[in-house]
Amino acid sequence: MHIWAVGGGKGGTGKSLVSNGLGTRLAERGQQVILVDADYGGPNQHTYCGIRKPQTSLVQFFEERMPLEEIAQPTKIERLRLIPGNINSHNTDNLTTTQKQKLFRHLKHLQADHVILDLGAGTGYDTLDTFLQADVQVGVIAPDTLAIENFYLFLKNLKYRQLGNTLSLLSLRDRAKGIWKNRAELGIVNTKEFVAHLRVLSPEFSELFNQEQKKLKMHVVLNQVREHRQAEIGFAVKSAVVKFFHITAAYAGHVRYDKDLWLQFGQDTPALQRGSSFTLRQDLERITEEILKAQFPEET
Ligand SMILES: Nc1ncnc2c1ncn2[C@@H]1O[C@H](COP(=O)(O)OP(=O)(O)OP(=O)(O)O)[C@@H](O)[C@H]1O
Ligand SMILES: [Mg+2]
Repeated sequence: MHIWAVGGGKGGTGKSLVSNGLGTRLAERGQQVILVDADYGGPNQHTYCGIRKPQTSLVQFFEERMPLEEIAQPTKIERLRLIPGNINSHNTDNLTTTQKQKLFRHLKHLQADHVILDLGAGTGYDTLDTFLQADVQVGVIAPDTLAIENFYLFLKNLKYRQLGNTLSLLSLRDRAKGIWKNRAELGIVNTKEFVAHLRVLSPEFSELFNQEQKKLKMHVVLNQVREHRQAEIGFAVKSAVVKFFHITAAYAGHVRYDKDLWLQFGQDTPALQRGSSFTLRQDLERITEEILKAQFPEET
């Protein structure tokens, strides 16, 4: 079973649309899929699925210990189930880290071929950790500077989080903090040199950090493309991810803007069901196939 995470930093780029498209395509390919609305602050994956008022949601998991298998509800797309986010007044945005870690542990035991997590915007630790733990990592951007800026910030935060998590695992956090504080005297001028210093100090850290870094493999998706020349942006961002962030990445392709998408909502039918949203379906099918066959180089 594979856990997919769809994130990217900026709000409104199309993370929920892309999650839905991936889920729909995988289900149509014959696989059992569960979509999870992991946007605790603003869940709306149920609307993409054509479910107006979900009867159960993650609230039952967190508050009543209801098994996720029972919360997962069928959608009108065969083999695609949904674990809705909380649409009631309780604030699941303020869940503890322990609760969210528990959720992740339980997700791993779901009876499905693929579990797709639709993440919220921003760079909160839980979002970053969920993204880092997923087997398939998808970053959604839109062709505008603000979305791309936030995506780069997301990447930067992913990298810092990986560093912090590795140091914590080895109980080296305080020591590292001390080194960073005294970096001027030690002649350390940037993060790269800081990491190099830590590598010399602890071969164990060096080894574990390498392993962590290898786990981050970004599939970049460019959404809301309104004109042909914008499609180039996807390739450029993917190259920047590799060149400047030293993150393994593959470009999965772009999704064109569909001015009629809004008409699909509130209809009791899935937004991307067969016979509707033709260009979106076409683009998202191609992207799913690209992700499934993507090969990453061993070293970037
Ligand atoms: N390719 C597209 N064509 C037309 N409209 C789109 C497209 N992608 C997204 N939208 C619209 O843009 C808005 C944001 O999309 P969506 O909710 O999928 O983004 P998101 O990244 O999940 O947002 P959030 O950060 O709030 O969770 C929605 O109103 C959606 O209908
Ligand atoms: Mg969303």
